Amino acid sequence: MSNEPILQVNHLLTQFHTDAGNVKAVNDVSFEIKNGQTVCLVGESGCGKSATAMSIMGLIDPASGEVSSGEIIFEGKDLLKMKKGDLRRARGNDFAMIFQEPMTSLNPVLTIGEQIIEPLMEHKALSKKQAKEKAIELIELVGIGRSREIYASYPHQLSGGMLQRIMIAIALSCDPKLLIADEPTTALDVTIQAQILDLLRTLKEERNMAMLLITHDLGVVAEVADYVIVMYAGKVIEHASVVELFANPKHPYTKGLLQAKPVINQRKEKLYTIPGQVPNLIELQPSCYFSDRCDQCMSICKEKNPLMKQLDNGHQVACWLYEQEVSV
Ligand SMILES: Nc1ncnc2c1ncn2[C@@H]1O[C@H](COP(=O)(O)OP(=O)(O)O)[C@@H](O)[C@H]1O
Ligand SMILES: [Mg+2]
Repeated sequence: MSNEPILQVNHLLTQFHTDAGNVKAVNDVSFEIKNGQTVCLVGESGCGKSATAMSIMGLIDPASGEVSSGEIIFEGKDLLKMKKGDLRRARGNDFAMIFQEPMTSLNPVLTIGEQIIEPLMEHKALSKKQAKEKAIELIELVGIGRSREIYASYPHQLSGGMLQRIMIAIALSCDPKLLIADEPTTALDVTIQAQILDLLRTLKEERNMAMLLITHDLGVVAEVADYVIVMYAGKVIEHASVVELFANPKHPYTKGLLQAKPVINQRKEKLYTIPGQVPNLIELQPSCYFSDRCDQCMSICKEKNPLMKQLDNGHQVACWLYEQEVSV
């Protein structure tokens, strides 16, 4: 594994415009992903995980919002400065994304095969016949038998787990160097979740692909992550290797997440037991956004938002408890 970052996100600010005001969904977020690395992005619902992923993909709908500032450097080039056509080529070719709800990402009136060959013909300039052969291979690669029959089926004929496998096949069709997976198993049954995660992990290792995996499931993080980014209210509040984070969580929010017990058999949203709610992302106060819920809150926490501090072992945390450490 090379140590070069494949993706660097610097001071990203993504806002949505609503009648109530501007929602700072991604608020000065910085992180990097190295070649071949799996980085997990975790945090409660509404903290800006999907908005971060959509910003990287260039998929924020201009009707509702925009990336207002920052840099998204992929292999040395700022995606935010790329021409639309170049970005479209990069998306799919160099990086690809799979979503939470496979059904909504597939076109119900096209066969599975048609949807797999389309990017192959567009990005890889394959003939229809070549693309079909490659599509059959991909269907087999993601662990589905009867590949020719599946090729000719429509999305509604397949189960959720199968559809997510198809989405993975489409995402991998152009051999991306980075795969972004936004809660790819949340909509699936528990046993299928495990299979899909295993599949992603195996494919990632075989292809030495980097992966940004978004999840609110810390069990998944413990199993697959190299690095973990913890987000809260649009900000990164802690960033560490998975071993460091689990052994030595620093931020009171992260400690809370790690203590919060998942509800048995609750397969959709795991309930965290940290009291209180994420603040409104429209009227943010100049304070630590977690201060209202923090059991270690000090007076400074109510006055200023903490900067990111560099601790040992590459561990970073934005919390006033670590004020004596060096800012990054
Ligand atoms: N299209 C949109 N219009 C307005 N607000 C949005 C839109 N998409 C997301 N948001 C808001 O941005 C914040 C972050 O959302 P999101 O990135 O989807 O969170 P997560 O994926 O962590 O659950 C939330 O407050 C959400 O309500
Ligand atoms: Mg989301």
